[in-house]
Amino acid sequence: RDSKVNQNLLEDHSFINYKQNVENMNIVKKRLNRPLTYAEKILYSHLDNPQEQDIQRGVSYLKLRPDRVACQDATAQMAILQFMSAGLPEVAKPVTVHCDHLIQAQVGGEKDLKRAVDLNKEVFDFLATATAKYNMGFWKPGSGIIHQIVLENYAFPGALMIGTDSHTPNAGGLGQLAIGVGGADAVDVMADLPWELKAPKILGVKLTGRMNGWTSPKDIILKLAGITTVKGGTGKIVEYFGEGVDTFSATGMGTICNMGAEIGATTSVFPYNQSMIDYLKATRRGKIADFAKLYQKDLLSADPNCGYDEVIELDLNTLEPYVNGPFTPDLATPISKMKDVAVANGWPLDVRVGLIGSCTNSSYEDMSRAASIIKDAASHGLKAKTIFTVTPGSEQIRATIERDGQLETFKEFGGIVLANACGPCIGQWDRQDIKKGEKNTIVSSYNRNFTSRNDGNPQTHAFVASPELVTAFAIAGDLRFNPITDKLKDKAGNEFMLKPPFGNGLPEDGYDPGNNTYSAPPKTRDSVAVSIAPNSDRLQKLTAFEAWDGKDPKNMPILIKSLGKTTTDHISMAGPWLKYRGHLENISNNYMIGAINAENNKANSVKNVYTGEYKGVPDTARDYRDQGIKWVVIGGENFGEGSSREHAALEPRFLGGCAIITKSFARIHETNLKKQGLLPLNFKNPADYDKINPDDKIDLLGLDKLAPGVDITMRVHPKNGKPWDAQLTHTYNSEQIDWFKEGSALNKIRKDRLG
Ligand code: F3S
Repeated sequence: RDSKVNQNLLEDHSFINYKQNVENMNIVKKRLNRPLTYAEKILYSHLDNPQEQDIQRGVSYLKLRPDRVACQDATAQMAILQFMSAGLPEVAKPVTVHCDHLIQAQVGGEKDLKRAVDLNKEVFDFLATATAKYNMGFWKPGSGIIHQIVLENYAFPGALMIGTDSHTPNAGGLGQLAIGVGGADAVDVMADLPWELKAPKILGVKLTGRMNGWTSPKDIILKLAGITTVKGGTGKIVEYFGEGVDTFSATGMGTICNMGAEIGATTSVFPYNQSMIDYLKATRRGKIADFAKLYQKDLLSADPNCGYDEVIELDLNTLEPYVNGPFTPDLATPISKMKDVAVANGWPLDVRVGLIGSCTNSSYEDMSRAASIIKDAASHGLKAKTIFTVTPGSEQIRATIERDGQLETFKEFGGIVLANACGPCIGQWDRQDIKKGEKNTIVSSYNRNFTSRNDGNPQTHAFVASPELVTAFAIAGDLRFNPITDKLKDKAGNEFMLKPPFGNGLPEDGYDPGNNTYSAPPKTRDSVAVSIAPNSDRLQKLTAFEAWDGKDPKNMPILIKSLGKTTTDHISMAGPWLKYRGHLENISNNYMIGAINAENNKANSVKNVYTGEYKGVPDTARDYRDQGIKWVVIGGENFGEGSSREHAALEPRFLGGCAIITKSFARIHETNLKKQGLLPLNFKNPADYDKINPDDKIDLLGLDKLAPGVDITMRVHPKNGKPWDAQLTHTYNSEQIDWFKEGSALNKIRKDRLG
């Protein structure tokens, strides 16, 4: 149990710390004096301070030390730019960056990839050089989708990983606790700060029996989504247990964990078992499998009689295939009812496109089972009735299914093989077969099906299902088709039924790694120059924010008093703005453009209180900033809910904001604001929100005495009338107060390092 085993085959500097993990876990176990679930064991064994950390599920905030970080290309840009501004020579923990989101599907794999590489050259060049400079692994465009590559190369049982993508939990299929986060959290871990997470509750899902016929692991999560709805997993880790967990493949478990994101779960996980051993061995990591076996009993499984906050039981013997959608992944319909439900709802019955693959469902097993159905159909002379696309999750999968013939089967069927990338799953799809606005149905083996996600057409009814079922729909071309009960007609008009799918979970001849798409950081990195073109409109180096000048800010105008819900989408919109995720100045042009101004009930129209002129929110903020005037925002409840995107905090800081004063904050946004040196403050008396007029001016008094638990006084100067005071609360701890004083958390890190 004392041996030194590498986390993977690609890095020589990262090791598995089971020994330390067990020590930490035992400290916590002794303190809590109760059996632990598997998820708890992983979390608590990664605590920064297991002796003193307060641990109450659903209540305490845990300070954790993850083993590694994974970033995708869209979110990595700002994370790395921020890390660079901390002035550290290299990342503190192993980090990998994966180019998968920026590749648009148009005509098929190779051509699409080439086009994307040209189009996004400056971003890819930046990521390639920055990863080399700061000692991170770089997976080039064409290598595959982040979660598939993590599963194939980096995931191991008992590990704690964070990733800047919501489907990071995919790695739970190998017994890893993998959590999707925003870029700011990734920067914390890169810069060796502990990472904070509210201690999740644990939702136990007990699996009994064994799946058969057309049912596949995807159906477990589709069924579960129907039970829990999209919110049912919020603040919880889903932990699977029961004899059913040992009846299917590790990649199948990956699929289930991946889609835990669709029920809002923090993450999902399976305990270490034989399928994981088989997968680790098949991916050349037998040494890790053997090492993990030594820790299986104490660390890598749940304690007998451990307590879950809630338990849902699913019987796999009777589980049917499901079709979920349209427009939401929790609208779950079993295939036996789909015919009636589809007709009753008036969903378009003609299936126009079937899409298999993606990070959710592109394992060797998925591809083999889909190919088995196609071969059966082909033996009756049938080809795809719909457009049929195949997205291999990685170059390794693509090369292996090319070698073993499944790829050829897909092509003969009429399938289009797309690049090893996200493609249509993230809306990177130049869809040509219908006009925008045309009502139509598509079925995919992906995970998300929100309105417009795949093709930007709000009239597209997108359903998610297993790859097996998607393939069956592509053969039948009809949403009412149930392959378990319905017959098809062959070319001669004879009726037949499709045989249930079959296929190997793992390739008999091992995986073919295909083209080498990985780039390890060089040993000596001093001479590596990070590539950012000075005139780029997509990338911009960050300049450190100024430290606090030690004075109380006075007479600050209110940039906007926002009305109603103000989510991160209202604060920093996504969609076309994604392009500017690496360019703070350009993306700041979307600041609060979705928020409603309480003064006139309009979005993106606020008055400059000095000139009386109405302009957009970012324009007015910039005008104030350029005049040297600090400003505040007034907001309502749960301000900044939604995503963890750090741009929603970087932008107000960049535009000269000083404080965001609300009834309450969404916690991640609040922390992000603190990290960027802004003051997130709350009305002690929420009714004060109503007393504030958009043209009042604000003083904040006594900031030099800012201390944990001590209120701040806000003096409000109405345009006409007497000043009045309100008390503001905050959640700063002493470390975070330094972030404010130094101008940002990264400034503080830089100062500590350089003195
Ligand atoms: Fe990519 Fe879609 Fe997965 S966007 S990471 S394939 S959820």
